[in-house]
Amino acid sequence: MVHSLAIAGIIVARQVLGQYLLKFPVKLKEIKLVLSMPKLLKAKDIIDAELPRLTQKCHELEQRGLKPNLNVVLVGDNPASHSYVKNKKRMCEKIGAQFVLHHLASDIPETEFLNLLGKINNDKAVTGCFVQLPIPKHLQHLDVTQMINPTKDVDGFHLNTVCDLYLGNLDKVIPCTPKGIITMLRKNNIQIEGADIVIIGRSHIVGKPLSLILEGLNATVTLCHSRTKDLKKHTRSADIVISAVGRAEFLNADYLKDGSTVIDVGINKTDKGLVGDVDFASATEKAIAITPVPGGVGPMTVFSLMENLLMTTETILKERS
Ligand code: GUN
Repeated sequence: MVHSLAIAGIIVARQVLGQYLLKFPVKLKEIKLVLSMPKLLKAKDIIDAELPRLTQKCHELEQRGLKPNLNVVLVGDNPASHSYVKNKKRMCEKIGAQFVLHHLASDIPETEFLNLLGKINNDKAVTGCFVQLPIPKHLQHLDVTQMINPTKDVDGFHLNTVCDLYLGNLDKVIPCTPKGIITMLRKNNIQIEGADIVIIGRSHIVGKPLSLILEGLNATVTLCHSRTKDLKKHTRSADIVISAVGRAEFLNADYLKDGSTVIDVGINKTDKGLVGDVDFASATEKAIAITPVPGGVGPMTVFSLMENLLMTTETILKERS
């Protein structure tokens, strides 16, 4: 209610100001800039505030006899994957968790890859693990996300975990990018319950689990994808638009309604560097809150991975006692 009133207030203020600006364009230029700037949803603000809690929890688990220990399997030399894994290692170090990287050659024989997974799955010291995706073609016939020991599934991709989401149990491990987005919305007091939310992209990593979670939190969710007939028809009436398709800067103000929140999951390599799915400058004309790229959803994903690692460690510790 308060959120809706705030949006309505800003929309009216923008309109009134627009009228004034016709008469006094120069004097009110700065005021217009300030009023039309949406809130920047930065991950750093949240992570800086929350990391001490995670560090404390990590220490507590170690004191109780099980140090959080993340094992990552990285096959090949995809530069983006290397960069993601580096960020995950850095965050593990920050909270005091053990991090072990198993970096395999891109042509690793299937049997060796499977042997390593088996070892990690059974290693009592390992409390969380995942295989960084994508994996090389010769391994893609394997259902690797289902080969991870479900009690160590920090990615949240195992069907046991997906089943919990389907049933609306949201206090268990949740896939990292959707979890990071929910945290981002909650910490910024952006209302989810009752909101009309459009997700663009139906991947197993982001769009699909996110639609289940948001529906579980009582939002009205529309999941759009490459065959959606009229994307703008959906996005223009959404309170929150979340784009996860990997199409550089396609989502501009024309797709948005005034006062909407825009969450950009895209990370696209272009001639001018890394950009999101959202045309940031254009979207800020309509958005009331928006995530930057970089510095928005990406770090929240890594932060959520740490939360999941602490959860799997706690579960394993409880099962042992
Ligand atoms: N590649 C891109 N995102 C992810 C993720 O969340 N988990 C894994 N395992 N691989 C990824």
